[in-house]
Amino acid sequence: MGYAARRGLRVWAWLGSRPPRRVLAPAAAMDLGPLRKSYRGDEEAFEEKHLASFDPIKQFAMWFEEAMRCPSIGEANAMCLATCTRDGRPSARMVLLKGFSQDGFRFFTNHESRKGKELDSNPLASVVFYWEPLNRQVRIEGSVERLPEEESEHYFHSRPRSSQIGAVVSRQSTVIPDREYLRKKNTELEELYREGTVPKPAYWGGYILKPDVVEFWQGQTNRLHDRIVFRHLRDATAPTGLMTHKGEGNWVYERLAP
Ligand SMILES: Cc1cc2nc3c(=O)[nH]c(=O)nc-3n(C[C@H](O)[C@H](O)[C@H](O)COP(=O)(O)O)c2cc1C
Repeated sequence: MGYAARRGLRVWAWLGSRPPRRVLAPAAAMDLGPLRKSYRGDEEAFEEKHLASFDPIKQFAMWFEEAMRCPSIGEANAMCLATCTRDGRPSARMVLLKGFSQDGFRFFTNHESRKGKELDSNPLASVVFYWEPLNRQVRIEGSVERLPEEESEHYFHSRPRSSQIGAVVSRQSTVIPDREYLRKKNTELEELYREGTVPKPAYWGGYILKPDVVEFWQGQTNRLHDRIVFRHLRDATAPTGLMTHKGEGNWVYERLAP
């Protein structure tokens, strides 16, 4: 037995606990600077003339369909949702987009979760989609409102039964003792709702993000990435410049430096 191993054993003995299964070397610093992938050629640039529509929701619909058709994208509707406390502390997590229309982008979650509480105190939020095989990113910013209760109810009951029970089992974002606690609660609820419908918990429901800003980002090989950003003008006083173009309805669009 080598010195390090003998020394290691001594340390475990001293701690009076079982040796860990694996001794991990201290994490080496990882330089990820050189990690780069190539994007596309300049001839494939995303120009204003390539916009499917001057309405960002229609443009999003086109990119979303392309992402759905892309075999190497597992969950085209996965998006990172950023929320923020009233005093400015941000947090982000993945959620699934469950529908979109001219009204906005819908997702479902627990109103009492961390994100739910943050949205209660500060309705401004942002979502980001990243479709890596297409080198595309879409950023959406706006304000969030709860969906009407009937819509949440309808969606809740359209979910697989196991997901309905899962929503009842989990008081999302609260501290729990261990996994066994979840298993036990799940079994109890499966038994309780063996027959009949699983009632939607009052704390579970949907939100709609009403967009003010939608940015389409197309990565390019030469790092001259394309960024076309749409802004919704709520009133005539919103700033516009010489490089601002009129979109559909109250939307304008601009090109941003990458
Ligand atoms: C791909 C993916 C999709 C997810 N979709 C949802 C979702 O639609 N709703 C949800 O509440 N949590 C979803 N989650 C879990 C959240 O990321 C997160 O763990 C949970 O909502 C608690 O977040 P919070 O404590 O910040 O509120 C998803 C996670 C991943 C990785």
